[in-house]
Amino acid sequence: MKTLEYDDYRQAPAVREQAVPSIAIDEVLVKVAAAALNPLDIKIHAGYMTDFFPVAFPYIPGTDIAGTIETVGDGVLGWKTGDEIIARLDPSKGGAFAEYAVVPADQLVRAPTSMPLAESAGLVTIGGTAWQILFEEFAVAPGHQILVHGAAGPVGAFTTLLASNAGAEVFATAAGDDEEYVRALGAVQVIDYRDQRFEDHLSDMDLVVDTVGGDVEERSLKVLKRGGTLIATPMPPDEARARHAGVEAKFVFHASNASRLEHVAERAENGIKVRIDRTIPLDEGADAFARQANGDAKGKIIFRM
Ligand SMILES: NC(=O)c1ccc[n+]([C@@H]2O[C@H](COP(=O)([O-])OP(=O)(O)OC[C@H]3O[C@@H](n4cnc5c(N)ncnc54)[C@H](OP(=O)(O)O)[C@@H]3O)[C@@H](O)[C@H]2O)c1
Repeated sequence: MKTLEYDDYRQAPAVREQAVPSIAIDEVLVKVAAAALNPLDIKIHAGYMTDFFPVAFPYIPGTDIAGTIETVGDGVLGWKTGDEIIARLDPSKGGAFAEYAVVPADQLVRAPTSMPLAESAGLVTIGGTAWQILFEEFAVAPGHQILVHGAAGPVGAFTTLLASNAGAEVFATAAGDDEEYVRALGAVQVIDYRDQRFEDHLSDMDLVVDTVGGDVEERSLKVLKRGGTLIATPMPPDEARARHAGVEAKFVFHASNASRLEHVAERAENGIKVRIDRTIPLDEGADAFARQANGDAKGKIIFRM
């Protein structure tokens, strides 16, 4: 099978041929239709995640797949050859950017039927993260006022959509060019981060979701109501500084969880779409890693096998 892989941190990923992997009794072999690239893949490749996700080389990157079950392990119940699935692989093991991937049966989720299978690969990490933020780390409810930073990015967009569908009033920061896109996701106000300061416009937020980091985190403390919550995705926030400001700050650490992904797939059946930057073959892997690392992708980069 064709794979994308590298032998050391920061080495350009290259296409290689490998034997199709074998499966254990509680696993399935999936013929991968598509796999989505995430910022996490870039951070692992750069060697920044060794404390959380140590990897062994050669390493096939990628966690988010959509595909069709090829072979089912002897101990697996409820799944059969030909079933269309989405799944998130363990980042330490990787394996998504390949023609076949091994998936533990307890991580399988039926692919939504309302979107092309390839597009549904783009739901996996962003949908799971947004769900975890809004419904597990926080309990979003109608009437909540929520500010989403980076609302045009994949995680921010999904968070905006899920929060507005849940009845929250969503405010957003994004580049002005993305205003129409972010409003279509349900945001009531979009603040162009390039020439406006969100803290000049907003106050009394119940929740700020920060997918950007840097000084955005500290500035966000000023727009929360007393007792409000900041949830950050790029880096753990400064919890002591937040407490001092009378609010709570926490980091979301997205972990693979099939039941959470089932909720995301259900929402997708109700019309949620994934913004795709480009769909490319594995051969363009090195360029895709560079594009994602440079922050040039507008939406998900999807590898089509
Ligand atoms: N902790 C976890 O479990 C977890 C899970 C998923 C993702 N993450 C992290 O969350 C972050 C976001 O992920 P993503 O996939 O959505 O990333 P992304 O593709 O890099 O999107 C980031 C978005 O933020 C926008 N942006 C940049 N600077 C901004 C600013 N100052 N104010 C407002 N918007 C700004 C960008 O807009 P432009 O296009 O204008 O540059 C882009 O739309 C990444 O760091 C990722 O690693 C963490």
